[in-house]
Amino acid sequence: MDILYEGKAKRLYATAHPSELRMEFKDDATAFNGLKHEVFAGKGRINKSITLTLFSFLEAAGIPTHLLRDEDETRLIVRKIEIIPIEFVVRNVVAGSLAQRTGWAEGTALPEPLVEFYYKNDALGDPMLAPDHIRVMGLANAEEVDRIRSLCLRINQLLMGFMQDAGFRLIDFKLEFGRDGERQNQIVLADEISPDTCRIHDLATDEILDKDRFRRDLGGVMEGYQRILEAIRNHAAQR
Ligand code: TMP
Repeated sequence: MDILYEGKAKRLYATAHPSELRMEFKDDATAFNGLKHEVFAGKGRINKSITLTLFSFLEAAGIPTHLLRDEDETRLIVRKIEIIPIEFVVRNVVAGSLAQRTGWAEGTALPEPLVEFYYKNDALGDPMLAPDHIRVMGLANAEEVDRIRSLCLRINQLLMGFMQDAGFRLIDFKLEFGRDGERQNQIVLADEISPDTCRIHDLATDEILDKDRFRRDLGGVMEGYQRILEAIRNHAAQR
């Protein structure tokens, strides 16, 4: 079937059904806007399973998502939606670009969760946007921005609790949303939630288990991802 979109870590294919897409998770990993690239055998399979587990959990908790069903080792079937070209980053603890922007030490707990907006545009290097930019650029209207911001905070509450019960600390993560034309343009959670798009540390030791292992050349990248998969699967099965 036709490839509709190919990103750095996923491909989207058309299916025989016009309102359904096939989302395939690749083994490729990139960092620093594609400057660094490596292929990790098994990453696509692990990230697909983590995304399936977390999206299923969020759907069951009342968050509308694009997930329809599992397909095979590396692919999910999702609703065809209109993606909003903004990366919504939610943070609980200072890390990465927030440490650079504020001068605050990595690992500092934030007094309240922070929601940030970045323009999804590789050529521009995904610059940060204020809510006014989002409106003036016509990327989303004020109501949509408010709705998405409250969904981000609710998802953060749900995921923080889930991760903590599974033995992890959720430092920060990136979400994407879209409009579902078949459901009155309802805002739905889209894309993925995986160690590629989250910072996740061991609750007891603070060991880094996410894509920072790749960004910082710490080694054992797939071992970290596999540990996250096993623990969240066990936790989801017990719930
Ligand atoms: P940052 O500290 O580099 O801004 O990253 C914040 C969070 O967003 C972190 O969990 C990694 C995730 N992220 C993505 O998923 N895609 C990206 O392109 C970037 C820059 C960050």
